[in-house]
Amino acid sequence: MSCCQNKPSRRTFLAAGGFTTAAITLAACTSEPEQDEFSDGEMTPALALDELPVGESVQMAVGANQILMYRENAETVHAYSAVCTHQGCIVGVGENEPTAPFVCPCHASSFEKVSGAVISGPASAPLTRHKTTITDGWVHVEVEPAT
Ligand code: FES
Repeated sequence: MSCCQNKPSRRTFLAAGGFTTAAITLAACTSEPEQDEFSDGEMTPALALDELPVGESVQMAVGANQILMYRENAETVHAYSAVCTHQGCIVGVGENEPTAPFVCPCHASSFEKVSGAVISGPASAPLTRHKTTITDGWVHVEVEPAT
């Protein structure tokens, strides 16, 4: 018995390499792009916390940006750019229920309210996240200042 009896043939080795390459490529193609986070703006009062009950959403201008907000619970408000990552239409609230997604009116892409992730395309990238704070009963969002 030769010491190399279990060594893979060149063909087996290449086939395995091709499969591995295909698997890596497929994984890279199927994973969602990373979410962008808006930066270098100013924390700007957007609306009174009382105006956004838990489980509700709103789309509105804050500073110079169109913003989507979703109040997940008493202490957490998520904010995203309302500019669709597909072709730039303004994404709307959709059905104003916690489990309903944000929906783009142009080509019907939909996005999760708690993460901004794409639920259905044609958009492939999540909505850009904006930082929020709750201070003195107001929701503040980091945006470009209004000019
Ligand atoms: S611009 Fe929003 S889905 Fe096309």
